[in-house]
Amino acid sequence: MAELNPNPRTFEAADPDESRRVPLTREEIAVATSPRSQVAEQFRALRNSIHALNPDGASHTLVVTSALRGEGKTVATINLAVAMAEMPGTQVLVVDADLHQPAVEDYFGLPRRQGLTEVLRGKLPIDLAVRQTSSTGVSILGPGELPSNSSELLGSDRMRSVMNRLRQNYSYVLIDTPAAMSISDASLLGAMADGILLVVRLGETPRHFVEMTHNSLEALGGNVLGTCLTGAHEVDARQGYAKKS
Ligand SMILES: Nc1ncnc2c1ncn2[C@@H]1O[C@H](COP(=O)(O)OP(=O)(O)OP(=O)(O)O)[C@@H](O)[C@H]1O
Ligand SMILES: [Mg+2]
Repeated sequence: MAELNPNPRTFEAADPDESRRVPLTREEIAVATSPRSQVAEQFRALRNSIHALNPDGASHTLVVTSALRGEGKTVATINLAVAMAEMPGTQVLVVDADLHQPAVEDYFGLPRRQGLTEVLRGKLPIDLAVRQTSSTGVSILGPGELPSNSSELLGSDRMRSVMNRLRQNYSYVLIDTPAAMSISDASLLGAMADGILLVVRLGETPRHFVEMTHNSLEALGGNVLGTCLTGAHEVDARQGYAKKS
């Protein structure tokens, strides 16, 4: 007998076929929608720099965060994922671990479905939570229902084991997070991941905020690999990667 849904706001489980049919059309996702643009090339350069740090091909979990809100984390995460998946044989998973203002499904044009929260609560197997997208080699794990205790869930042993499991199944796992200065979630995840990419909006984020964020992510056990600069004009695109000195 079918179980009655005790909470009508609960999202449905994902339908993998539905997701594969929806094309990526958002212009911010330049690697997919303007693949010959300068911005797309900058994301490929960022991909190459990260890949060069990974010569043995061991899979990597990367947390993407920024000091402040709205610096371009989600757009950078998805562009990087599409650029990584252009490399032959590369399977990439984008995890939306922004359990406050999630946006990955929205950028992909997909409806909200069950995801990370349900996996972390033991209510949904990972395999049923992950959706392939129309972008070849790119899958997503959406946030699911937004919990009131995001830090507790994301800092749990279960999150660590989910990350380890995903690391085995994908070449790269890119984890989108909320701004690090307002919520501790990015620091918690950064300490579990292989590396952290710090997104910085040029000309807007005060330098000392970036330094404070960098230092606090590392103090909590994270490995900041470099920065991704956003907000540059096309002719002055410095969206790129700076190796840690
Ligand atoms: N490379 C880009 N080209 C054009 N627009 C961009 C680019 N990167 C970000 N934006 C714009 O900046 C805004 C914020 O981008 P995004 O959603 O990626 O930021 P965020 O850091 O993930 O925000 P939040 O902190 O709310 O999660 C959006 O309106 C997005 O369209
Ligand atoms: Mg975001």
